[in-house]
Amino acid sequence: MMIPFELDRSQSAPIYRQLYQRFRESIADGRLRPGDRVPAVRALAAELNLARGTVDAAYQLLIGEGYLIARGAAGTVVTPQLTPAAAPPVRTPVTSPTYQATHSGTQPLALQMGLPALDAFPRKLWTRLAGRQLRQSGLEGLVYPDSRGYAPLRAAIAAYLGISRGITCHPDQVFVCAGYRACLDLISHTLMRQGDSCWLEEPGYFMARHALLEAGAQLVPVPVDDQGLDVAQGIARAPDARFAVVTPTHQSPLGVSLSLPRRLALLEWANRQGSWIIEDDYDSEYRYQGKPLPALKSLDQQGRVLYAGTFSKVLFPGLRLAYLVVPAEQTRAFARQADRLHNHCPQLLQATVSAFLNEGHFARHLKKMRSLYARRRQWLIDALQQHFGERLRINAQAGGMHLVAGLREGNDLELVQRAQAVGIAIEPLSQWYLEAKPHHGLVIGFTNIASAEQASAVALRLVQVLG
Ligand SMILES: Cc1ncc(COP(=O)(O)O)c(C=O)c1O
Repeated sequence: MMIPFELDRSQSAPIYRQLYQRFRESIADGRLRPGDRVPAVRALAAELNLARGTVDAAYQLLIGEGYLIARGAAGTVVTPQLTPAAAPPVRTPVTSPTYQATHSGTQPLALQMGLPALDAFPRKLWTRLAGRQLRQSGLEGLVYPDSRGYAPLRAAIAAYLGISRGITCHPDQVFVCAGYRACLDLISHTLMRQGDSCWLEEPGYFMARHALLEAGAQLVPVPVDDQGLDVAQGIARAPDARFAVVTPTHQSPLGVSLSLPRRLALLEWANRQGSWIIEDDYDSEYRYQGKPLPALKSLDQQGRVLYAGTFSKVLFPGLRLAYLVVPAEQTRAFARQADRLHNHCPQLLQATVSAFLNEGHFARHLKKMRSLYARRRQWLIDALQQHFGERLRINAQAGGMHLVAGLREGNDLELVQRAQAVGIAIEPLSQWYLEAKPHHGLVIGFTNIASAEQASAVALRLVQVLG
């Protein structure tokens, strides 16, 4: 059974929502009957010339709401018990996730993105600091920790942001959360209302997508070009959006920086509308050419930017510690929600990070990692160029922890599946797009490449696998 489906890119509803609605309408008017098998994701994506992630997003939503059932090898079917009346073609603002790469093994996989160099983390020093915190902590280390975060860590983060990111903030404005996702949850519980429109970068980070969808936001993908988020297009598509989520320092995943005129235009829009900008500054510490750019938050005169940073990239993701800086007028509202959400992070870890920052280890560690990553990145670029030549267009951006390599031809998802089958954890660029016609390319981590020889060996392996 085929779903008649015309792409309508002029509609404000994302493509996967349009597809979702088509299925609901088809079920409601009986074109799709209970028990009918629906096309496989891959087949439908090919048929409609859509990214697989787009079709998958629509299917996940239909499955989540009970209209479809996934039966593994037997395919996906319309829920047998469903009556047509159960599926009125209501236009709900809810949508669903798309492709998500999860590699949660015990070792970094070859070329895995998003992980810092685990071999270079100073474990001995860390163990010593953690041991000292344990020995020194009195009863205060045993009670429920402050749901806003451990006070000395909040102060250390405020001081670090002032020096390194140009952000002036009081420690009361800093909230420590268990990862970026927890920062987003705290924001959505404090400021977001059901159905709020939210600009998201296209292509963009799928985890933010998931969190905002689950919070009931209506997503408005806004294209990214070589100057970062296209603010004018955001304004054209959803002038009254209440949120905009951006990665201004290194756009995720393309790596470009948001240009100064765009930064000013974004702030101007938010000031005028009273909208909120969520700045995700996840890996700004790593820049290999030119000076580090100050955070967007450093230009925020009117308190419209909610700034999120994480220790996942600069220390290690197993910590699960990130932080959020909120405008001064919002600290009470955020503190109330942090308490309601039991936003407590383990005190021992917070105290250890605080010592790491205050005793100068953090600055030393970053300095070391910057030059290590610059070397590892160059090893990988050289090796990929040597083995792939013209077939890969490597867009070496000024910073970040991964490379994006555009494909001259071919489907990135197919290539990635072949690579992943032999343990090479590259990611398909096309799957970071929600609605637009995707670019095909490979997203490649370089942080855990230990030597030029290893870079060459993995590039050779990749070229053999990809053919
Ligand atoms: C774009 C982006 N933002 C934020 C994060 C940080 O997430 P977390 O603090 O949950 O580790 C990541 C990690 O991969 C990321 O890629």
